[in-house]
Amino acid sequence: MVKVITYGTYDLLHYGHIRLLQRAKALGDYLIVGVTADDFDRKRGKINVQQSLMERIEAVKATGLADEIIVEEYEGQKIDDIRKYHIDIFTVGSDWVGVFDYLREYCQVVYLPRTKGVSSSELRTEKQKLRFGLVGEAAYLNKFARECSFVNGTQIVGVCSETKEEAGKLGEYPVLTDDLNELLDQSDAVYITSHPSLHFEQIRLALEKGKHVLCEAPLALNEAQLRELSELAGKNGCILTEGLKTAYSTAYTRLILLVKGGAIGKPVSVDATCTSLRDLSAMTEEDLNRYWNTICAWGPTAMLPVFHILGTDWRESRITTKLLDGSNDFDVFSKIDFTYSDAVATVKVGKGIKSEGELIVSGTKGYIYVPAPWWKTDYFEVRYENQTENKRYFYQLDGEGIRYEISAFLRMIRYGNGDYYISREISRGFARLMQQFYHGDYTCLGSSLMKAEDEP
Ligand code: CTP
Repeated sequence: MVKVITYGTYDLLHYGHIRLLQRAKALGDYLIVGVTADDFDRKRGKINVQQSLMERIEAVKATGLADEIIVEEYEGQKIDDIRKYHIDIFTVGSDWVGVFDYLREYCQVVYLPRTKGVSSSELRTEKQKLRFGLVGEAAYLNKFARECSFVNGTQIVGVCSETKEEAGKLGEYPVLTDDLNELLDQSDAVYITSHPSLHFEQIRLALEKGKHVLCEAPLALNEAQLRELSELAGKNGCILTEGLKTAYSTAYTRLILLVKGGAIGKPVSVDATCTSLRDLSAMTEEDLNRYWNTICAWGPTAMLPVFHILGTDWRESRITTKLLDGSNDFDVFSKIDFTYSDAVATVKVGKGIKSEGELIVSGTKGYIYVPAPWWKTDYFEVRYENQTENKRYFYQLDGEGIRYEISAFLRMIRYGNGDYYISREISRGFARLMQQFYHGDYTCLGSSLMKAEDEP
């Protein structure tokens, strides 16, 4: 019996796939099809596969061409499979010519001509074709625009920025405007990274026009605003979600699953620190109106693991803050202490201080340690009293997680589920804390660190 094996992602199964499977089958008597696992695809840069592994397996099964289906999970697995299943022929399409010649040591390698004019990438692009409008400070939009190019089916139609000239440096966009209405009329969705004080009005306008919204956290500065926006999104069938790249990175999502699965016992304490030291002393008042204060810039990121792990039903939240001299809402450092009925958390955020940006989640059996900068990590450790039980976890992180965020946003639009990564409950937690801060419900630490340093 001649055994043949072939591998692929088989996303949105198409005619090209079927033709390949037919010809692969005809090469022998028994065909094994390896379908790539999501993680494996991510590692090799295919980040916006639309269907789940199970859906893709089901589609291959439905062709009736595969005698056996296996999952491809790791690099080097092909050699293992060829040996394990006593394979005679390995085959793939001609887009891979030469790449798998190293397998000739183990079996015959056949490259079959690729069917012209069809591919999963094209189907994904056609299916979605999301026209994205970018709103806010040009400097932040730059990165986002670049990351969009890695996600099939996104097309940037234009930029709306108060600083049109700066936005012009971003590239040649058909729409370059300071009028949000103009941009919205030509977009299906907007990415907003303007000053947090503008979020509410801008999001409301977008939702009123039936546009999906991805907005850098925090979405709103108080609970009432968030409620209004959530209701409007629901009423108009729009996705409204927070842009917070950490929430979409593989290492972070796996860490949360491990904690939920009991890897460190019952979590009792979460400590997260995020800082980025900036020279704020030379800032003019106008700069400060455009610049994000610390609690908005870092608060949501630092609170994310707290809310994911301990929830948002805290008993008490205490904010201690250090304000910039002369400002009544620009904090250079804030520390937030949460007390839950059976756990505690502390987040420290700063633009006027520098600290170790680590995350520690302590539990009754062990703890998780994520080294700095934990919010864009590809690595963490689970540590125990008995060090021989410690485990290290590594995951691929491309584009700081922004491209995963964009591709997750597209999936939310397609499947109508916006609650998977950052639930509305978590957004409400952010809004509650922002409300506490902007109501002045905090303890203030002396005069500004920045100015104190300047003094002789
Ligand atoms: N294939 C083919 N003809 C096509 C598309 C794919 O023969 N038009 C073959 C590939 O060469 C591979 C198998 O089908 O052997 C599975 O390919 P896969 O990567 O899943 O499909 P693509 O359409 O190439 O996907 P993408 O656009 O995401 O790269």
